[in-house]
Amino acid sequence: MALLPILVYPDPRLHTVARPIAQVDDRIRRLADDMLETMYDADGVGLAATQVDVHERLIVIDTSSERQAPRVLVNPEIVWRSEALSTAEEGCLSVPQIYDKVERAAQVRVRALGRDGHPYEFDADGLLAVCVQHEMDHLMGKVFVEYLSAFKRDRIKSKMKKRYPESVRAR
Ligand code: NI
Repeated sequence: MALLPILVYPDPRLHTVARPIAQVDDRIRRLADDMLETMYDADGVGLAATQVDVHERLIVIDTSSERQAPRVLVNPEIVWRSEALSTAEEGCLSVPQIYDKVERAAQVRVRALGRDGHPYEFDADGLLAVCVQHEMDHLMGKVFVEYLSAFKRDRIKSKMKKRYPESVRAR
């Protein structure tokens, strides 16, 4: 396993749209394992392949308090979302130390392939629902700060450029 460098906003590579994964093979399993290790190391609850500069539809998530319930989602799809919305404070490993409120569907049903390549479905609410929607945005090239006002986003951009001139998180 290996820790992977995480791209920092506003690196333009974060706006790449990810391709579907044709087959869950050893390469994908290794990437998922490396992404989980990277996410745990950075104290995150989710990470999209986009953030480690791999533009394929893969995300990893662990919203458990014990940090022992890793989820691997290959080619994730939201098959249902509630009309009810919910607003939560979000952060992102690609936008370190920035937190702000984003409104999203309160509940979603998600379909994906797991680490074993088999399809599975689950219902999510609370933090898990936020996390799935946030990570799936990454696969479409969207970072959560794009929901904020242009004023806030510009401030965040210049802060990030100053703190992370290489546009990669230092470990
Ligand atoms: Ni993020």
